[in-house]
Amino acid sequence: MVVRSSPLLQRIMNAVQVATFGGPEVCKAVSIPTPSFDSTQVLIKTEYAGINPVDTYIRSGTYARKPKLPYTPGSDCSGTIAAVGKDVTEFKEGDSVFTVRTVTGTCAEYCVADPHLTFPLNTDRLSYQQGACLGVPYFTAYRALIKRAQAKAGESVLIHGASGGVGTISVQLAKHLGLKVFATAGTENGIRIVKESGADFIYNHRTPDYTKQIMADVGDAGLNIIIEMLANVNLQKDLEMVSANGRIVIVGSRGDVNISPRFTMAKECTITGCMLGKSLEEDWREMGDAIAEHQKQSWLKPVVSLAKEYSLSNVDEAHSDIMSSAGASGNLVIKTTQ
Ligand SMILES: NC(=O)c1ccc[n+]([C@@H]2O[C@H](COP(=O)([O-])OP(=O)(O)OC[C@H]3O[C@@H](n4cnc5c(N)ncnc54)[C@H](OP(=O)(O)O)[C@@H]3O)[C@@H](O)[C@H]2O)c1
Repeated sequence: MVVRSSPLLQRIMNAVQVATFGGPEVCKAVSIPTPSFDSTQVLIKTEYAGINPVDTYIRSGTYARKPKLPYTPGSDCSGTIAAVGKDVTEFKEGDSVFTVRTVTGTCAEYCVADPHLTFPLNTDRLSYQQGACLGVPYFTAYRALIKRAQAKAGESVLIHGASGGVGTISVQLAKHLGLKVFATAGTENGIRIVKESGADFIYNHRTPDYTKQIMADVGDAGLNIIIEMLANVNLQKDLEMVSANGRIVIVGSRGDVNISPRFTMAKECTITGCMLGKSLEEDWREMGDAIAEHQKQSWLKPVVSLAKEYSLSNVDEAHSDIMSSAGASGNLVIKTTQ
């Protein structure tokens, strides 16, 4: 591997490091050298890092993928290209970009990324804050709705848990695809955000009997598609609400659940999983082309959570808040510059 020599590499940067797996408190603000990159990689000067629930699963040490310690958390960021390896043709210094995965972690002033997981950010339409909300949320919404559910215009979809990072973009993408969108949130603020994202019908998943109201609105035929953010709580309800030949796509689940499998027989419906990390290089290319186009269109409006401001000095709070919030309101972002 040829390591690129650059004046930036002599610099010390602010970053967050995790030296031992554990609770949010293991996220420590540190000063470390700017990371080195090889001839095939890019160095990004970050502006914002997007926080996703998976960042906390990885940090806790319970996730299937465990980084070598110490590591810098975060996969989503926005920023500008600070330097490129000599074999990189896709980007040049100064380009505005966002990432969905990086080599060195996004909770830092600089990170190294592979070009195929780095994407142009259309700053004519989107801010750097919004750019940090695109990576995992947009690509997961795309994979769930288009690749897994094979959604078609005119179908009905329930985004079950629509107020967070993945949910808000799922609502926007589903509307763009021409679906009739049913969606849930757990607070008044969440409901407002989901409404602004374009959902046709909105319900509070913390109220009793909300599924009865959904069925009253959708009709006896049920929902063609359900994108599920908390399957361990909702899978049985989903089986009751889905239509004959419907598709339930599990995006999130945080435990086990008892279901009545006979519903799958009676309806010949499908329960399938969605895992963004299973995307192949051709999937990333397809999704990259789609997001380049979609960034030009006014419907794509990543929702930045304004509940609190975060910086590299309180990433521990962001990790804690995303898992125990009173209610999601879009995507949490960390300001990585001073
Ligand atoms: N499979 C994959 O590749 C993949 C990729 C990205 C994310 N995920 C997972 O997908 C889930 C959502 O991700 P995210 O980034 O959108 O997280 P987030 O921003 O933290 O949002 C969580 C969402 O879950 C909702 N929720 C809470 N209780 C619920 C309930 N009883 N029924 C339905 N929804 C409920 C929240 O609503 P309120 O807060 O308004 O109650 C909120 O809309 C997470 O579990 C995450 O780990 C999976």
